[in-house]
Amino acid sequence: MIDTARRILADARQVVSFSGAGLSAESGVGTFRDAPQGMWSNYDPMRLASPEGFAADPGLVIDWYAARRRTVGNAEPNPAHVALAGRLDIVHVTQNVDDLLHRAGARQVIQLHGRIDADRCHGDCGYAEHVDMADPPGLRDCPRCNSPLRPAVVWFGEPLPPDAWDAAEQACRDCDVLIVIGTSAVVYPAAGLIGVAKAAGARIIVVNTQPSEASPLADVELLGPAGEIVPQLLAQE
Ligand code: APR
Repeated sequence: MIDTARRILADARQVVSFSGAGLSAESGVGTFRDAPQGMWSNYDPMRLASPEGFAADPGLVIDWYAARRRTVGNAEPNPAHVALAGRLDIVHVTQNVDDLLHRAGARQVIQLHGRIDADRCHGDCGYAEHVDMADPPGLRDCPRCNSPLRPAVVWFGEPLPPDAWDAAEQACRDCDVLIVIGTSAVVYPAAGLIGVAKAAGARIIVVNTQPSEASPLADVELLGPAGEIVPQLLAQE
């Protein structure tokens, strides 16, 4: 199967990667839906990652993000991030809020669900600032308008950043091959990008440790850990 996938890639003019939490799993950043250790098996996403949860208990949300920030700050890019980043021609669309693709050296990264290494104003003044992942801040107010600051990520029920969405949709429409890596493909609208690429004529290569909602759209499905499969897939002759 990997040889078939490599042949498909060899013939491609434009390749896009579309990744989820499984890409960073081997770096020690937990996924959301892999029972029993997946985050949403152990924590309620509506309490920790929604505007309603933040309104109900902002301190709980900020403390949970502080722990996640320390985990991401201590993590290193794994061989899948490095192999992807080594292909400067590939546009990387990711649902991940970590910075591991960037730290591996990737240049064209579109983060659909925002980024965990920044805070932004929960009001609408537009203030944003970088946060120290080794020493994440506690609950605090926006210095510009006194609304609370919150992680610059997209929570359940919130719209995706329009610029990121437009760029991702365009990239998926324009590509010949979409490599789908480590996502359950159940969270929309992001997961819909696989169908966008397929409908536009792209071949779909899926890399995952198990079958997922992306499986029915796959031209080739490679089952195994991304850290092993992606470097083999992208290795130059
Ligand atoms: N290699 C490849 N795939 C893996 C690996 C690995 N080492 N480990 C786990 N996986 C796969 C799982 O089989 C699963 O299909 O990664 C997928 C992770 O799925 P989710 O936990 O649902 O993560 P994701 O698809 O990124 O979630 C989408 O949901 O909670 C929100 O905003 C959050 O961006 C996230 C979105």
